Amino acid sequence: MCGIIGYVGSRDCAPLILEGLKRLEYRGYDSAGIAVFDGTRLKITRSVGKLANLEKALREKPLSGTVGIGHTRWATHGKPSEQNAHPHEVNGIAVIHNGIIENYVDLKAELSAAGSVFKSETDTEVIAHLVDQEAGRGKGLFEAVCAALRRVRGAYAIVVVSEREPGKLVAAKNASPMIVGIGDDERFIASDVPAILPYTRQVMYMYEEEVAEVTARTVRVTDLHGAEKTREVRVVDATPAMAEKGGHRHFMHKEIFEQPRALMDTIRGRLSADRKTPLDGEMPGLSVPGAVKIIACGTSWHAALIGKFMIEELARVPVEVDLASEFRYRDPIVGKGELVVAISQSGETADTLAALREARSKGAHALAICNVVDSSIAREADTVLYTRAGPEIGVASTKAFVTQMAVLFLFAVRLGLVSGRLDPARAQALVREFTHIPSLMEEVLRLEQKVQDLAREFMHASDFLYLGRGINYPVALEGALKLKEISYIHAEGYPAGEMKHGPIALIDEEMPVLVVATRGRSYEKVLSNVQEAKARGGRIIALVTWGDARTREIADRVLEIPDVHDLLQPFLTSVSLQLLAYHIADLKGNDVDQPRNLAKSVTVE
Ligand code: M6R
Repeated sequence: MCGIIGYVGSRDCAPLILEGLKRLEYRGYDSAGIAVFDGTRLKITRSVGKLANLEKALREKPLSGTVGIGHTRWATHGKPSEQNAHPHEVNGIAVIHNGIIENYVDLKAELSAAGSVFKSETDTEVIAHLVDQEAGRGKGLFEAVCAALRRVRGAYAIVVVSEREPGKLVAAKNASPMIVGIGDDERFIASDVPAILPYTRQVMYMYEEEVAEVTARTVRVTDLHGAEKTREVRVVDATPAMAEKGGHRHFMHKEIFEQPRALMDTIRGRLSADRKTPLDGEMPGLSVPGAVKIIACGTSWHAALIGKFMIEELARVPVEVDLASEFRYRDPIVGKGELVVAISQSGETADTLAALREARSKGAHALAICNVVDSSIAREADTVLYTRAGPEIGVASTKAFVTQMAVLFLFAVRLGLVSGRLDPARAQALVREFTHIPSLMEEVLRLEQKVQDLAREFMHASDFLYLGRGINYPVALEGALKLKEISYIHAEGYPAGEMKHGPIALIDEEMPVLVVATRGRSYEKVLSNVQEAKARGGRIIALVTWGDARTREIADRVLEIPDVHDLLQPFLTSVSLQLLAYHIADLKGNDVDQPRNLAKSVTVE
């Protein structure tokens, strides 16, 4: 949510800031703005809608200067409008913000009573007024920001620039991501690495309740009370090309096709030479927990549901899967001896972070499965397993999902071996089969033309039902989520066996029913469910394993994928469902990478 970029150096920064904002577009936004110090004054341009509008405004009235800030806003308080767009400026102090200030109503009342006049409906504007008030008491910008933030409750990543101290930016972070990029006599501030990748790979990650004073040559970090902090500079393992489309029409398409490579990266170095014991190096002292709880949101939650099948089957440890947004509000029973696994691509999802904190405060050991290195969830967990998918820019998660499943699979095998409940020979056979998944995935990707034909045939449906049983049920859920978030077609994922208890009433000749019917434990039962749907006139699209003549007889359309072990099938089925959702959305002419109303990383609860 909300993209942030700041620059201080010697370049003319408006084009650089605009470029940076484009690289953050995937985070989701509905308005944007930029402030540049022109040598005398701060000049601000803001616009509603896509960055093209801001770009046009800047072409008509260019901004010039070497210090500036830019922001893409995902509305929380106040509708998307020019007035509510950031930066918010008060007496030559401009602020951009990602997060939510929870006590803004009280602060606004207090500030209004003291004479502040508010121009927007946002919570952010209170920060600009607070900093201005503190500056009016004689404090320098840095001290004024610290003092203002001591009065604020909530989540924030902010950057502040002032006409009175023009050679610097002040950034602060609490529960929203923020990094400082180190260049040669220039510094960058951003909410995410892709924004600054063309200029530097040297990055300093800010931690909770930290404030940074950033000039072209220096970075000073303290807590809110001014106590100095030392933060190391790291070289990020990403290149500008990773944040570019590389010839694909959309990032989502590129990321779908990157999955075989991403999976190999996930696996690399994590199997012992004899391929028997995964994760030896990263989890040397793993002890077997009494129970595992997995918390996550959205697609990561679907990976968690699949992980439950893997862990329970291979390690025989009971697994509970919770939506992070529900977990902490029901006073969960969790404590010592239990393992809580938080799964998050971004590592910044507010609900997952809050649930992780809740679990740790109750004594559980926390394992994070994250994609973004050094993200908040990764930092706060006791152990981290990175998914190594590389930057995922498309809002609809694809390669992060399959790499999450891969880590869960390796973890399940390891837990099974440590507990003694998984026969080493079986583990070795499974792991060997798993290492073939990237090349089998390539075969699924070669079905693109067929999937595109299906997409053309079904793109006008207004509703879709996705059915699956066992491990294919979360696959159906994920397929339905992909379709609804980018094509805006209503889609329902359902356990096939439950259909007769209600949703079967929805089925008629207008309703495409996509059934994940791969060979395996529940194949026969699913086939009966397909018959039931067919008998009600449903148009059946079946996702089956190679050579499945029985389903072919019943289904209207069939898509055949390679046959693998039940536990590994989701790696292949989900790729074909991603392709289907992608092509339907693309044929409809939708903005695939930035679907309406969605944000890549949901940093508000
Ligand atoms: O970064 P996270 O994995 O924690 O994000 C969780 C969800 O917001 C995310 O998976 C969302 O559902 C995606 N849009 C799905 O494609």
